[in-house]
Amino acid sequence: MEKELENLLVSLKNELDKCTKEFDVLNLKSKYLGKKSRLSEILSELKNMSVEDKRLYGSVINNTKKQMEQEVNEKIENLDSKVNISFDDTIDYDVNNGSLHPVTIVAKEVTDCLKKMGFTVVSGPEMESEYYNFEALNVPKDHPARDMQDTYYLDNGMLLRTQTSDNQIRGMENYGAPLRICAPGRTFRNEDLDANHENTFFQIEGMVIDKNISIENLMYVMQELLKEVFHTNIKVRLRPGFFPFTEPSYEMDMSCVICGGKGCPTCKNSGWIELIGCGMVHPNVLRAGGIDSEQYTGFAFGIGLTRLAMMKYKINDIRVLNSGDIRYLKNFDIK
Ligand code: DAH
Repeated sequence: MEKELENLLVSLKNELDKCTKEFDVLNLKSKYLGKKSRLSEILSELKNMSVEDKRLYGSVINNTKKQMEQEVNEKIENLDSKVNISFDDTIDYDVNNGSLHPVTIVAKEVTDCLKKMGFTVVSGPEMESEYYNFEALNVPKDHPARDMQDTYYLDNGMLLRTQTSDNQIRGMENYGAPLRICAPGRTFRNEDLDANHENTFFQIEGMVIDKNISIENLMYVMQELLKEVFHTNIKVRLRPGFFPFTEPSYEMDMSCVICGGKGCPTCKNSGWIELIGCGMVHPNVLRAGGIDSEQYTGFAFGIGLTRLAMMKYKINDIRVLNSGDIRYLKNFDIK
């Protein structure tokens, strides 16, 4: 038995030497120290041993266990980066504590910041009607803008909302003007999955309606938001954009924090990440929400929360965010 324990320790050390990622180390931890490991089998055999054998082998077994744990811990401490992506899902790792998802953390930061500026947080349904998702937002049937968003249509005549902008109409209907709302939520598009595209992602919508609202107000709110999330001034650029529900429309990009603006696969080598769609609310949208477009103006914005989380935590593959892999996601815990 002593020989076997010695071999286990040597083979753990050898395998640890080859690891460069924390997840691989954790997999080894589970292989060598987890419930299904040989060591754990040996430990349970210990229970059935005679008192004499227990005395003889107990300390050897426990010492080996301690040494193995120490090897694993030292390896983890010496790794360059603790945040590594792995899709290996052979989970036999004792994780009991939950943690906040990166998107949840970022959503909270954004909503907290907006709340301070007087916004009310609202939410709407994920299964939505064409009316709220498109028509009332100035996107009638056959409008080319519908092709910009590959929609999941459901058998019951509804759809999975492609954007949180549906909350604009619901907000205006429910609260009237003046209005300051924000609505974080899950959105869906029929996209082919790759490192930058998911069919399920998160956005946050914002809308302000009042008398004398201008683009300046919009810019201020956007800057405050980014400052709150990144704790520093972030380089942004504003481009003219096109959205049927705003006129004029803009796209706000932030410089890619993954490559520092030099160009990488995440930013499609442009150095910039599309983050926010925004603009002044189209009068047709105000009218659809029952608001007098002669008296009131407003701005609206939609921020890609998933993108924002990727930028904040330098995540270069969007798919890990929906993977449910706690070993990865727990790296962002802020508790
Ligand atoms: N809903 C748009 C999208 O998902 C983003 C957007 C653009 C939201 C402009 C807005 C806006 O509120 O004014 O691409």
